[in-house]
Amino acid sequence: MTTVIDGNGIADGIRADVSDCVETLADEGVVPGLATVLMSDDGASETYVSMKQQACEEVGIRGFHHEIDPDAPAETLFEKLDELNDDPDVHGILVQMPVPDHVTKRTVLERIDPEKDVDGFHPENVGRLVAGNARYKPCTPHGVQKILAAAGVDTEGKDAVVVGRSDIVGKPMANLLVQYGEGGNATTTVCHSRTEDLAAKTRAADIVVAAAGVPEMIDGEMLSEGVTVVDVGINRVDADTEKGYELVGDVDFESAREKAEVITPVPGGVGPLTIAMLMYNTVKAASLQSG
Ligand code: GUN
Repeated sequence: MTTVIDGNGIADGIRADVSDCVETLADEGVVPGLATVLMSDDGASETYVSMKQQACEEVGIRGFHHEIDPDAPAETLFEKLDELNDDPDVHGILVQMPVPDHVTKRTVLERIDPEKDVDGFHPENVGRLVAGNARYKPCTPHGVQKILAAAGVDTEGKDAVVVGRSDIVGKPMANLLVQYGEGGNATTTVCHSRTEDLAAKTRAADIVVAAAGVPEMIDGEMLSEGVTVVDVGINRVDADTEKGYELVGDVDFESAREKAEVITPVPGGVGPLTIAMLMYNTVKAASLQSG
């Protein structure tokens, strides 16, 4: 029997724990605050940011949303970040990626106060993660760890293959899987667009985390019986629907579920966890900054 993960159910549990922490902080006179900054006209980015703000409202986090004209100079964004870094009501800052081409991503990430960097993308926080002393675990990989734990998938000693090497998912995911401790201790391989014979790697895996951003690139033929498949992909593909598109993952769900013991769907798998872990990091930020 294949277990199809209910990401919304797992996220509900985490959000309930986060709400409890918000109440505890309220007793100390602290209301966690998250600022989101959007410098893009991309419809998907707009949707993600509004989902993040909605989640804030649901758990009692104060949300601050700022939009910067995508044609504005980078300096406009930096000035906003300086303002947010100095605002004591703002404990977490998130700049929705991607930013326009004329804005260098690295300079944006470095401009955010590392203590407010709830994405965990600032080089100081990346360094701490790699050193095994994370301040904020990046939300999506952390959410994947929560899914594996909830499904009773022990990573210790397993062969894990991460497909994709992005700074947001692939690299931090591999780091978490390889680390000492719970949710880690896996023998971890990172595959990417230049990998030769990807199927040989994924077939040898006990756990496959698909995070390449290529619609349905991994199918059942590329997997072994009993594998755990975590699909991080959220790809909009043209379809004859009201919106003109549908969401598909990086995994061909129907053929993969034939092989998998545990599999996440898209939507309703990893996505809800990403947002729940952002709420978790924001409460942690408020707690660190008020303690
Ligand atoms: N764009 C896609 N995923 C993310 C994320 O986790 N954080 C930010 N800031 N931007 C993203």
